[in-house]
Amino acid sequence: MNPFSNKLLEILYDKIRDSGPITFKEFMEMALYHERYGYYARSIPLGKSGDFVTSPLTHPVYGALHARQIEEFWNVLGQGPFTIIEMGAGAGYLASDILSYLSNRAIFKLIDYVLVEHMPVAASFQKELLRPFIDKIKWVNRLSDLGPVTGCIISNELLDSFPVYVIQKQGSEFKEVYVDFRDRGLIEVLGPLSNTELESYVQEIPSDLPDGYRTEVNLGIRSWLRGLSEVISKGFVTTVDYGHTWKDFFHPMRNRGTLLAYRDQEVTEDLYRDPGNQDLTAHVNFSDLHRWGEDLGFHTLGYTYQWAFLGGLGFEETFLELSGGNFDPFSPKLAAIKMLLLPQGMGETHKVLVQGKGVPCDLELNGFKIKNIMKRLAR
Ligand SMILES: C[S@@+](CC[C@H](N)C(=O)[O-])C[C@H]1O[C@@H](n2cnc3c(N)ncnc32)[C@H](O)[C@@H]1O
Repeated sequence: MNPFSNKLLEILYDKIRDSGPITFKEFMEMALYHERYGYYARSIPLGKSGDFVTSPLTHPVYGALHARQIEEFWNVLGQGPFTIIEMGAGAGYLASDILSYLSNRAIFKLIDYVLVEHMPVAASFQKELLRPFIDKIKWVNRLSDLGPVTGCIISNELLDSFPVYVIQKQGSEFKEVYVDFRDRGLIEVLGPLSNTELESYVQEIPSDLPDGYRTEVNLGIRSWLRGLSEVISKGFVTTVDYGHTWKDFFHPMRNRGTLLAYRDQEVTEDLYRDPGNQDLTAHVNFSDLHRWGEDLGFHTLGYTYQWAFLGGLGFEETFLELSGGNFDPFSPKLAAIKMLLLPQGMGETHKVLVQGKGVPCDLELNGFKIKNIMKRLAR
């Protein structure tokens, strides 16, 4: 009889027995992306029957408003051929709603849409949903499969799913969290920082944080930006995710970090329960995205709350346009749409950051005309 409650746990056990404790980042990588038993390898866990709901799943107005921002990018770049790249598209609703909205505009004949998708199960779901636009879309496994393009990349809740390092203060220094086995269960142990890039990052974290303080470091964002700098020769990067600026991220009160597990629309801090069967996510440090982007030639053009971004792009008129001017004010759909804007929904937890390369640094984009809080990104 298999003494393990799940197959991934058995694989983790074998790995740790053979080569010792693994970093939390390696654990998260396997729990989410193990090719057979990882959370995202098995199914598309989104929607009302899934583990969580994201903005693209609420209503087509979300994608339509991003389409309007993309149209403005295209105007800025002179209305030539334009590539829209989306990475980590999940079920594919954002792509579908962006393409539907743009399908009767002048931009449509000049765009091509690329989905960067590393999970075969998601790619096949997307291919089915996006059948009406199949001539416009290309799928690739990774960013490096693309040549240089003029256009934009958009991602919704991608960066929060990058595997992170977990560190914890012990006395006056930060140690790294490793995952080990005891009594057929996973446990955490502290050890030295596992690489020099992490060591240099840790030196920048405020030194007066209290003993026991725990936080995460998402160095995957920097490698992702490096990859983007090879691909985007001129254009924009739109990132939507939940997250904080540097000062909020490393606030002394946030002493348990931001890592959470999601399952069946419930959130828990038990990161090791049933690996591969629950989602793991960490909030994004938007100040890192901003400064690493600047180092690579991407200027930050705006940073704001999701409600302000969608409002600046004409939420009301676009919603009315999509509903043909008549909608039922008592429709349950309206409750879902409110989630996009309300502070207790995704309106304030989610932020939008737009970076530009080869475009004027003082561009005032519609998405930021209600509110632009990018000054807060400074450390
Ligand atoms: C939280 S889901 C968001 C899905 C979708 N964007 C949405 O908002 O509904 C995160 C997605 O990012 C994908 N992802 C993570 N790392 C990726 C990578 N390196 N390349 C492509 N997709 C990635 C995951 O497989 C997953 O589908």
